[in-house]
Amino acid sequence: MKMKLSDARLSLLIAVLALAIAVPPAAAAAEAEAVAEKSLYERLGGYEGVSAVVDEFADRLFHDKRISQFFIGMGDDTRASFKQKNKNLVCNVTGGPCKIISRSANDAHDGLGITAADFDVVAGHLKDVLNEFKVPEREQGELFEIILGLRPAIVDRPDETKLSKDAPTRR
Ligand code: HEM
Repeated sequence: MKMKLSDARLSLLIAVLALAIAVPPAAAAAEAEAVAEKSLYERLGGYEGVSAVVDEFADRLFHDKRISQFFIGMGDDTRASFKQKNKNLVCNVTGGPCKIISRSANDAHDGLGITAADFDVVAGHLKDVLNEFKVPEREQGELFEIILGLRPAIVDRPDETKLSKDAPTRR
């Protein structure tokens, strides 16, 4: 028995065939790969995205009473420079085109007496800002992997809570 396609079914069939020709599986796979290969910098929204996150993040550090003692004495120009240095750093380490214009993490933080708890406060602000800017989990994880790599260079007094009374006096 011969089957006759209704007009609607025929249109649907033509549409499906047209789509299959327009987007062959290989092209779709290549497109998916291109998306996956985007640098973290690009996925963070490029310079604009990085800049907005760092501005908000730095302002929170300056105003958080738990750690603001570290930033006392920084005038507006020094704060702006602190932000710019952090933008360039994040841009650079995430695959962006910026140059690092700051000192090494060690040189910049050595002697400040930053504790593990201080570091966690700062990391917490970064997490909050990334969440508020709706940066997806995957990108947050990649960024944190990089930032946490700097932790040993930044924390001077690694584990205050484990200091026993016999431990050497802190500086
Ligand atoms: C979360 C990881 C951190 C990153 C990526 C980071 C990044 C930076 C950068 C790029 C600079 C500029 C260095 C320069 O002037 O050449 C800087 C300076 C500074 N950072 Fe951090 N920092 C981090 C954690 C912290 C923490 C936990 C504190 C203290 C709570 C802190 C306090 C400071 C201060 C006070 C300066 C100014 C130092 C100076 O100019 O003498 N940072 N940081």
